[in-house]
Amino acid sequence: MTQLTVQLNRLQLANPILVASGTFGYAREMAAYVDFARLGGIIPKTITAEPRRGNPPPRTVETPSGMLNSIGLDNDGIDYFIETHIPYLTSLGTSVIANIAGRNVDEFVQMASRLGEMEGLAALELNISCPNVSGGVDFGTNPEMAADVVSSVRGACDLPIIAKLTPNVTSIVTIAQAAADAGADAVSLINTFLGMAIDWRRRRPILGNKLGGLSGPAIKPLALRCVYQVAQSVEVPIIGVGGIGTIDDVMEFLVAGASAVQIGTANFYNPSVSERLVDELPTALSELRVTSISEIELSE
Ligand SMILES: Cc1cc2nc3c(=O)[nH]c(=O)nc-3n(C[C@H](O)[C@H](O)[C@H](O)COP(=O)(O)O)c2cc1C
Repeated sequence: MTQLTVQLNRLQLANPILVASGTFGYAREMAAYVDFARLGGIIPKTITAEPRRGNPPPRTVETPSGMLNSIGLDNDGIDYFIETHIPYLTSLGTSVIANIAGRNVDEFVQMASRLGEMEGLAALELNISCPNVSGGVDFGTNPEMAADVVSSVRGACDLPIIAKLTPNVTSIVTIAQAAADAGADAVSLINTFLGMAIDWRRRRPILGNKLGGLSGPAIKPLALRCVYQVAQSVEVPIIGVGGIGTIDDVMEFLVAGASAVQIGTANFYNPSVSERLVDELPTALSELRVTSISEIELSE
């Protein structure tokens, strides 16, 4: 019998297929396409302490094998999330991992302690790919700041903690190590790569925000590299994310060292893809002659 459950320190998932923050709305939008109870879990769009309007349009542009987005954390804020989205999300029969972003450590802590009291959440994912208004740079680009957010949240909330890291750093291993040492149950690798698109005839950047985050198949080799590098040197469960759209992609991340994966941009071109990947997993595991995800490893 194939065993699809995975254990990421304190977080257990029914299977390793999650949907990535910002690419699945708050799930309602996807109800016609996916049987949510079949997924390993849902990570809704990042929420912030206050409602945010996000960046000026255009906010997305298609690029070869991918897309750029500069949504800018557009959301209705934590109060609305708690009142409107949590009751629905926690009724879906799958693990719900709330994703939060703060402008400083205090905001992360305050949001985490409120969410920690909610019934039915499985974990918190910290989107540390956002600027620290006190320090000016993104939390996830500095190991001390990344560690500070993780350990402060861990002190304020009993839920398992996942640190979602930005790849826009010199050494993602250093940041992953800091997050692990600070008590993260797992790290999600990776958020989008900073990029841009230009309309040369109008001599302008295409995105209203000028810069945006690159995602989709174009970044898969870069994401795989991040997963591999962290798996080789840090003792922390890894959730791989970046360009995953097929069962081959899923298996590549599991072999590189991930224990679970998130499906992001692929939801936009095939909203049912996550459920199909759950269906396809047992056959792929049997091809490797393993009966559980934890048995998958790189061959020496
Ligand atoms: C339109 C869009 C919005 C996103 N919004 C968020 C977000 O709110 N929070 C977050 O942590 N990541 C966000 N992401 C990043 C994805 O969760 C994921 O890390 C990234 O896109 C790489 O995976 P992919 O190539 O499979 O899309 C967003 C990505 C896209 C394309």
